[in-house]
Amino acid sequence: MSDTQRGLFLSLEGTEGAGKSSNLAWIKEVLDSHNKNVLLTREPGGTPLAEEIRELLLAPRKELVCENTELLLIFAARAQHFQSLILPTLEQGRWVVSDRFTDASFAYQGGGRNMSFDTIQQLETLVQGSLRPDLTILLDLPVELGMQRAAKRGALDRFEQEDLEFFARVREAYLSRAEQNPSRYAVVDASQSLASVQEHIRDVLERLILS
Ligand code: TMP
Repeated sequence: MSDTQRGLFLSLEGTEGAGKSSNLAWIKEVLDSHNKNVLLTREPGGTPLAEEIRELLLAPRKELVCENTELLLIFAARAQHFQSLILPTLEQGRWVVSDRFTDASFAYQGGGRNMSFDTIQQLETLVQGSLRPDLTILLDLPVELGMQRAAKRGALDRFEQEDLEFFARVREAYLSRAEQNPSRYAVVDASQSLASVQEHIRDVLERLILS
């Protein structure tokens, strides 16, 4: 199947408390209203095996998780998700919207954990070949505000237990990727009201549909 018949691939990114869940539902609503056949999925996860790897990654544990272990588990989950779900769905002409994708590895492992961006790029090519999202919506907000929102959700997972400096590096890495890829990224100010955020997202999606 040629690229022109492929469905579009969208990813939604952001630091903790950026409001990804409610905005993911909104993205689906807007795309449905334009008669797009959409699959919503998430990372880490999206298939039974990848969801099991997600549980391993997010569970707080006494044993220190080595950085390479974390990175390879994330890409192992991604390889399964990409080959068995994302690619076949796009090839059927359906759209795929993923709650996080590889930009999260550049932001969290590259930015947050200070891992090599080159290594992440090599794994990205190994797992995805040349395929990248057609559009990445980054919900951006000050780290302090995001952490206040996330703290209200109850028990914190292994990533949510990181400190403010970690999330400041994650945010910075996301913003610098957005700057490097302006045609793929839409940066949305997630500190605004939900209605304003949704309006911005609708504009971005409608521009993509009409392009
Ligand atoms: P969630 O907050 O979207 O449910 O994602 C789970 C956590 O996984 C989140 O704290 C970010 C982290 N993560 C990475 O560190 N690297 C990645 O590549 C992905 C996809 C997620």
